[in-house]
Amino acid sequence: MKLGIGRRLTGTYFLVIFITVAIFELALITGINYYYLSSINNNLKNQAEMVAGFHNNFLDSTDLYSSARQLIDIFAQESFQIQITDKRGKVIADSLGQTRDQVLDTTDIMKALQGAGDKFKGRDQFSGERIASWSAPLISQGTVVGAVRFTSSLELTYQVIYGLAQYLIVFGLFLILGVSIISYFLAQTIVVPVEEITRTAEQMAQGNLKVRSQVVQADEIGVLAGSLNHMAAQLEKHEELKNEFISSISHELRTPLTSIEGWAQTLKGTPSEAREEMQYGLDIIISESERLNEMVEDLLDLSRLEACRLRLYPEPTEINGLLRTTYEQLKPRADKQGVDYRLELSAEEQVLDIDPRRVKQILINLLDNSLKFTAPGGEICLSGGRRRIEKQDFYSITVTDTGSGIPTAEVSLLKERFYKSPQNALNKGAGLGLAICDELVRLHGGTMEIDSEVGRGTVVIFNLPVTS
Ligand SMILES: Nc1ncnc2c1ncn2[C@@H]1O[C@H](COP(=O)(O)OP(=O)(O)O)[C@@H](O)[C@H]1O
Ligand SMILES: [Mg+2]
Repeated sequence: MKLGIGRRLTGTYFLVIFITVAIFELALITGINYYYLSSINNNLKNQAEMVAGFHNNFLDSTDLYSSARQLIDIFAQESFQIQITDKRGKVIADSLGQTRDQVLDTTDIMKALQGAGDKFKGRDQFSGERIASWSAPLISQGTVVGAVRFTSSLELTYQVIYGLAQYLIVFGLFLILGVSIISYFLAQTIVVPVEEITRTAEQMAQGNLKVRSQVVQADEIGVLAGSLNHMAAQLEKHEELKNEFISSISHELRTPLTSIEGWAQTLKGTPSEAREEMQYGLDIIISESERLNEMVEDLLDLSRLEACRLRLYPEPTEINGLLRTTYEQLKPRADKQGVDYRLELSAEEQVLDIDPRRVKQILINLLDNSLKFTAPGGEICLSGGRRRIEKQDFYSITVTDTGSGIPTAEVSLLKERFYKSPQNALNKGAGLGLAICDELVRLHGGTMEIDSEVGRGTVVIFNLPVTS
């Protein structure tokens, strides 16, 4: 972990600033060096050419020795050494008096004795000092009679340049150090929150979904922390839902199973003459098995919906006919229960493009609910007819009952999975019916509305689109 982003960032910053400073200083030092040397060179050249010009125009060179003395007297300066040589390069006059009678053989002198001015940079052939010089030819009546050479010591210049370079290097090192320290702290502003988020994520991965990242920043890292927290919250919610689901569904599945097992045991010990009791027990076993089957069907539908695998198989279906057969199918149960059970259909036939099996499933679910919660003497009505909603034609199916109803405040929760009203908490069922119905209606492109009031009853309306 410690080898991570922080070091990489600091290292990168360091490298970039190091390279920048190095290139900048190298260019600067080279520039200064060039500037100093070329200005010295120009100066030497001007002086040498001036002296040569003066000689060539105004002095009689038959006697170079006396001319040389004159030139030195006129032009001698402290900052330069002036040497005058004869045509073989032997020094006949020297402003410093050091090199008289010595023979100069540097390239500039050679060139000057051939008739052209030239510069020289290097070590002095006698003192070994670093020097720059310019030599110009002395000409008399068209022939080169000697040369004048201006020389300047570069030791002082180099000292100044070295001093400057040292100063620049020290300054550069401090700059690099300073920027590196700043970049370290800059990197820490990224590394510290990332480490915190990583620790949180690791804890989450180990199953502790209660932890939350404390990083609050208005940048990508802050967004990452927010997303992580949101993800943990969602996972926690799903975990809770899953646990709730398992406990609720195990309870719902166990009830009919207990009943089936109990009756099977009873029937086993019942003498075969007791036909009536046997019949009663078998009826219960059958109805409880059916209930188990329905519940398992609901669970399968739910998982198909979750995985978006629930498909409709629409076909042109005459809806009034479908309503009638479903109504008839549940009539015996309603009669037995002693409720006033009615069917109200609009006169004309209506063909809809629907999945008849699924619409029937919705109808049975709604009618089953009404039958479950309506006491003898109550009313249940199934009705259907066309209805126009927001400029679109729908076929509207309504199931009304005068049963127990549920508190109006709970109505919005009915479409949620596993929701069972505490109002009639003892009823059997997993609380999946209406949630599945709602999804099925939605898959058909329709809508479902529920209204209920305790003591007055419940109305469920679902609208299926009419396509022309
Ligand atoms: N017609 C109704 N009258 C009163 N309560 C109802 C009615 N329909 C549904 N409910 C309430 O809604 C709950 C969920 O019903 P539903 O979604 O059909 O689940 P289930 O699959 O258990 O039948 C029921 O347990 C009941 O509390
Ligand atoms: Mg139901």
